[in-house]
Amino acid sequence: MIPIIAPSLLAADFARLKEEIAAVEEGGAEWLHLDIMDGLFVPNLTFGPGVVAALRPHSRLVFDVHLMLSRPENFISEFAAAGADWISVHVEACHHIHRVVQQIRAAGCRPAVALNPATSLSALEYILQDVDMVLLMTVNPGFGGQEFIPGVIPKIRALADLKRRLKLNFLLEVDGGITPAIAGEVLGAGAEVLVAGSAVFGAPDRARAIAALKAAGSSMA
Ligand code: DX5
Ligand code: ZN
Repeated sequence: MIPIIAPSLLAADFARLKEEIAAVEEGGAEWLHLDIMDGLFVPNLTFGPGVVAALRPHSRLVFDVHLMLSRPENFISEFAAAGADWISVHVEACHHIHRVVQQIRAAGCRPAVALNPATSLSALEYILQDVDMVLLMTVNPGFGGQEFIPGVIPKIRALADLKRRLKLNFLLEVDGGITPAIAGEVLGAGAEVLVAGSAVFGAPDRARAIAALKAAGSSMA
């Protein structure tokens, strides 16, 4: 299966965002992953809806907005208005995850829930039917360029099994430390969307990096 590639803007040159996005769009990416951090849920700050809105007219990529915010419910309408196609919220950050998922759908976006590496899949039990994607973190959120946590592989496999067993259609996205060398293993475990920051924007040739990630999928049975 050829994966969807979602380059993470976090690793791009922030002084040249428009050109960086054009390079991955021309390079064959389908999505753009936008990491929003508040300095509370994660120990880092990035950018807000203003930057997302400024970039929206310059790209046809699917905007995959990953909210690493401690109160994501306060910003759903802002990110929807800014042009988000998908909005991911962390189960660890939401007191009322079901309500937030409905809020995302009502705002016209596709809802996804994200799980930190140490959060059990059981947190999804009563929400899985209501989401269009599950984002499994394969590093602890907060920073780009971290090393992939191999202990998450069985979790990817278990979620893919659950999807098959329950005949659900949500997409399975993985985020953190994904490189062409690791892509084959996560795709084999059942991942369908690969977020890649450093592996794409850290490479001199973005198109070649995207092709290498896709090739990991096409070489699989
Ligand atoms: C980490 C972010 C990731 C990050 C991935 O908190 O959610 O999206 O940008 O970067 P790499 O691919 O460099 O690990
Ligand atoms: Zn992310």
